[in-house]
Formats: sequence, C-alpha cells, structure tokens
Amino acid sequence: MIDTITLKKPFDAHVHLRRGAMLRAVTPITAEKFSRAIVMPNTDPPIETVEQAAEYKKEILAAIPRGDASRFEPLMTLYLTKNLTPAEIEKAAGSGVYGVKYYPWGATTNSQWGYQNILEAKDVLKKMEGVGLPLLLHGEVHVDERNEEVDPYRGEQTFIKGILPELLTSYPKLKVSLEHASSAEAVDFIEKNGKEGRLVATITVHHLLYDRGDAEPRPLLRVKPLIKERSNRDKIRALVKKGLPFVSAGSDSAPHPESKKFATTAAFGIFSAPVAVELYTQVFDELGCLDKLENFLSVNGPRFFGLEPSSETITLVKKDWQVTEPVVTDEGVKVWPIYHKDMGLGNETIHWQIKK
Ligand code: DOR
Ligand code: ZN
Repeated sequence: MIDTITLKKPFDAHVHLRRGAMLRAVTPITAEKFSRAIVMPNTDPPIETVEQAAEYKKEILAAIPRGDASRFEPLMTLYLTKNLTPAEIEKAAGSGVYGVKYYPWGATTNSQWGYQNILEAKDVLKKMEGVGLPLLLHGEVHVDERNEEVDPYRGEQTFIKGILPELLTSYPKLKVSLEHASSAEAVDFIEKNGKEGRLVATITVHHLLYDRGDAEPRPLLRVKPLIKERSNRDKIRALVKKGLPFVSAGSDSAPHPESKKFATTAAFGIFSAPVAVELYTQVFDELGCLDKLENFLSVNGPRFFGLEPSSETITLVKKDWQVTEPVVTDEGVKVWPIYHKDMGLGNETIHWQIKK
C-alpha cells in the first residue's frame, strides 16, 4: 500500500478568488496548496482589460501571507464580454494574461456579460488564434438559437455536439480548454479530439466525487455545470485513470457567502480549495492510479499555458482528517467548503493529508 506521495506542487487550472473580504479569506488557501492558478475573471464588475487584470492581480498578491507570497503566482484571464476587442487581445498576449474565458449568457454566477453563443465573437477569436491566447470554455448552451432555455442537465452535451466542432474547425489553431468536463459526451469528445497545446480539458474534484443523487438535494453541491447521473461521473473517473497529457486538474473552487448558498435559490459554485488537492489524491488512490496523479495535478496544466511545472514539491500522507470549521472572512461571513463533516453527505473523513 502506498501511504506517502511526493509531487511537484500542484497547478490549479481554474479557480475563483473573488474580491474584497472573500478574496482575502480564500486566496491564502489556494496560495498555500498550489504553485500557480488560472484565476477566473467573472468578478462583479468583470475583468475585461489588461489594466483591470493587473490591478486584480495586485489585490490577490496583497492577500497572500508573506511566506507564500513569492511562491504562488496568480495567472490572470479576461472575460469574453461584448466590450472585449481584438486590440485588447493584442495587448493581452505577453502582458501577464493567460487566457480568455467564455461564459454562456445567463448560465451561471456573473454570466450576464457573456455572449449567448461563442461563435458570435468572431473577430476576437480570430485575434486570439493569431496571437496564441487560449480560450477557456464554459462549454454549455443555456439558451438555444430559438431563445429557448435548454435543460440544464443537457447544456454541456448540447454545446459539445452543436457548437464545439464548429468552433474548432473555424479556428484550427486556436488553443482551447474545455473547463470542468461533466458529462459522458464531453469525455468522449476529449478522448477522441484532445491534443496537447490545442484542445485540453480540466476536471473538478466535485465531478469526480459526486453524482446527481448526492448533489440535487444539497445546496453546497449546486454548481454549473450540474453534477450529473452516476454514469457520467464514472466516465470522468475512467478518463483521469488513462493519464492523458491533455487532461488536468482545475478545481473550479468558487466560494459564495453562506447567505447565498443557503438562499431559496442557492448560488452556483462549490468551494473546494481547502480540500481539493487531498481529495483528488483520494480519488486517484481509490481508482488505483496514483502514478497518474502528478501529471494530472502538476504537469499537464502548466504545459498547456507554456509554463514549466513548479520546482517545489509537496508530500501527502495517508492519514485521516476532517474539515470541522467553515472559512470565515474578516467581515465575519462564513464560507462552507465541500466535505465538511457536518455539511456534506454525513461525517465525511478525508484519507490524505498534506504534510506540513
Ligand atoms: O457553479 C459555478 N460557479 N459555475 C461557474 O461557472 C461559475 C462559478 C462561480 O463563479 O460561482
Ligand atoms: Zn468556474
């Protein structure tokens, strides 16, 4: 039995750090566990210029405790809003911006600035293809071409079938990352068409852990894309087990205040930063593929963005622990992570721990 594993320090290819008190509460957690993270731009207001991204990066760096400040790098992104111009893309390449994120209008938290259909953003996509700036896809159709709402359990499949092939053929050199793949159809598409440096996918820990039956009654597991029937989870598990070079970890840790998660309609987003590295390890252990963990967590992600993996390492040991507290902001707001012993499926225990 393997009970200790040392890895290059992980890379989070997808995280939400928010702003203000929430940012100050969650950023130190990501900075402790990851060497770098691709930071999502769906703040309110959104990050749509190189200047805003630089200012946002400063706020993030200021929230990191001294010991970790020189050891963690936030990698900034721009939001593909209707204000984003080809000129800004030109400026972004080589200015500390690592990608442009597409949100389908209306599908999730702060997606009200997105295009209904990514294919509308022709000039921007052309420019991104030209300068080599990756497109990070929230690959769902929320409202179709007849302006009808798509079943949210089918939004990703509709995107994979109806939009992604055309996007890839229209922009043959565009670097594309399909974020948080959550369906069997997404897995099949990636297995067939994934290619290093061209088409990659990120996988969350929640889509590896849970199924629809777990998620539907629990506001803390309400997330976009929705957690689907078990057969989808099992396809995602089988995908990571293959150890493909174009599949990597992207936690999609997305904190919301307690008041929003336990509102009548819970906000979409799962806060996983405090437990993500440990739980990815646990799932890979259960699947018997710990030998594939380092590439998934620490190597494949940076490679897509043209970066070397971290030169630091972390060690995980097989040792039980529980999450017993929420994270609390400096304004006294509680933020509940998944796998909390009282707020999860019931008295959950995590079997791997990062050695301090
Ligand atoms: O559930 C989600 N929450 N999905 C997203 O795409 C956005 C995220 C958030 O920002 O809360
Ligand atoms: Zn996200």
